[in-house]
This record gives sequence, structure tokens and C-alpha cells, in this order.
Amino acid sequence: MRYVVTGGAGFIGSHIAEALAGEHEVVVVDDLSTGHRENIQDFDVEFVEGSVTDLPLLQEIFTGADGVFHQAAIASVPKSVDDPLATHAVNETGTLDVLLAARDAGVKKVVFASSSAVYGEEPTLPKHEGMLPAPVSPYAISKLTGEHYEAVFSKLFGLKTVALRYFNVFGPRQDPSSQYSGVISIFTDRVRAGEAITIHGDGGQTRDFVYVADVVRANLLAMERDVTGVFNIARGQQTDLNTLARGVMEAAGREVPVEYGPVRQGDVRHSLADITRAREVLGWAPEWTLVDGLVETMGWD
Ligand code: UD1
Repeated sequence: MRYVVTGGAGFIGSHIAEALAGEHEVVVVDDLSTGHRENIQDFDVEFVEGSVTDLPLLQEIFTGADGVFHQAAIASVPKSVDDPLATHAVNETGTLDVLLAARDAGVKKVVFASSSAVYGEEPTLPKHEGMLPAPVSPYAISKLTGEHYEAVFSKLFGLKTVALRYFNVFGPRQDPSSQYSGVISIFTDRVRAGEAITIHGDGGQTRDFVYVADVVRANLLAMERDVTGVFNIARGQQTDLNTLARGVMEAAGREVPVEYGPVRQGDVRHSLADITRAREVLGWAPEWTLVDGLVETMGWD
């Protein structure tokens, strides 16, 4: 098979590319705005530097492709607040470009990286796919729009599509360098360096963390199986930040000071997914525990 991974030099995309490489022909398209060449240097993939906003480029690359894993995005809520137009161009127009190019090239399926952000501030837990989305950021709107475009392209043009609503994904190659990076990438980076970690608030807030290898398997199943629609991808378990901080230190076998700062503006207090649909329809279940995932992440350079 020939697969294209947009955003394939980024965190999740590079893990998908790695899982496909060797067995399939893989083309990675990435504009390297947040991705890195080094993420894909150890396995056999074709690399094309370019953006999902370049429709003619996508039309060329998608020719002969069986499936597209669409992971490219400006994957930051705060960036979308600062510059909604940039997020709109890449996440919404870019997704439309991907779907148009996929349709025109006769691609069989597009699997799209959506986000738990689409649920917004609705306090009901756990979140399930039947709930009404309530986006509270341009980023969340962009992911929800991508889902809607997928559904409409399925109806109008018969293009098979799946949207995976990722919760808090973590693992090797997640970039810790920005203040908006995933909390686990920041904590592992700091603990490795022997530096203090900061918890925003009292540490009682919870997230549903899922290890990247499980997210990769969800993508492969979504591509292979005869399924379409929207699926939550998470572990279906709540972990509070104090427990997470202890877990990271245990995985590292080293203690660092824990500092408490003000609650981060716009932070959701609790997050938890209902993953029944992914279990029953996709045939997927998370296999990695948080602790095993933390140990694996900790061992990465
Ligand atoms: C995550 C996603 C976001 C997605 C959203 C959906 C990441 C990086 N972000 O945001 O794309 O749209 O879920 O709900 O995966 N924290 C600390 N100390 C730190 C860093 C963070 O205490 O040094 C706290 C945050 O305040 C927050 C929690 O850790 O309470 C998780 O933060 P973060 O990893 O940034 O993810 P979300 O905000 O959940």
C-alpha cells in the first residue's frame, strides 16, 4: 500500500510513519513549522517539504495513494487565540485541501487527527461522541470544522473518512520547548535535567492521558477496518496532576522540587473520555498504562 502522512515529521505523525515504514510505501509531507527531519531519519519514508495549504502539491503527492493520515495542523489552543487566521488557513483550509486532493486522486480513506478540544467547557463527564460539541477556541472550531468537512465529503463524494478525537497524547518526540507543550513532555524534560516542575493550580485538575503507541494503533485500525465517523481516543482514565508529577519522578528514579503557580487561564478542570465506541466499533483498546508510557518517554533522548 502507499500511504501519505501529513504532518509526518511531527510528534504523532512521525510515529504513524514509523509504524507503516518497511511494510508500506510511505510519503511524509510536512512544512517543518513544528516538525523535525530528525524524527523520521531512522526509517524508510519519502519526505516532501511542503504545506497542506498547497493544493497542487497535495494533488501530486496523493496520486496513487491508498490512504492519507492527516496529522498536519497548528496544534495549539493559545496560538489559535493569538492568530485565528493562521489556524484557519492551516487547520480548516488545509483540511479542505487534503479532502479535495484525496477525492480527486481516488484515495480510499482519510483518517484525521481531531481533538477533545471540540467538547469545550461542557462539564459532563465522561465525554462521549454523541454529546453536542461546544468549542471555546479557534483551534477547537478548526478541528470540529474538519470533522464536518469529512462527513460532508463522505456523503457527497463517497470518500471514506474517520476522525479520531485525541485526548492528552504523550510519548517520545513530543517537543517540550514551549510553555504550551504537553505537560508530560515538560515534566519529563525538567525531571531529567534535575530541575523543578511547576503545577498550575493545586494539581487537582485531571486529564485522560494516552500513550502515542496506542494512538498509532487507533490510526492503523481506522484505516484498515471498514469503519467511518468520529471516535474518542484516550485511556478512559482520569489522572490528576499531583499523581502525574509523582509518576514522572518515579519513572525517572529521581525527585525534583514541585512548585505551585497560578491556574492557567482557560484551563479545563477535568477531562475524561468514554471510549466505548472505539472499543466496540473500531476494535481498539489502549494497551499502555500511564506508568509504562512514562518510563518509555523518560528513556528517550
Ligand atoms: C490538551 C492539548 C490541546 C487540546 C486539549 C483538549 C496538548 C499539549 N494540548 O490541552 O491540544 O486541544 O488538550 O482539551 O496536549 N500544566 C502544569 N504544568 C506545566 C504544564 C501544564 O501544571 O508545566 C497543566 C495545565 O495547566 C493543565 C494540564 O497540565 O491543567 C494539561 O496541560 P496540557 O498538557 O497543556 O494539555 P491541555 O491543556 O489539556
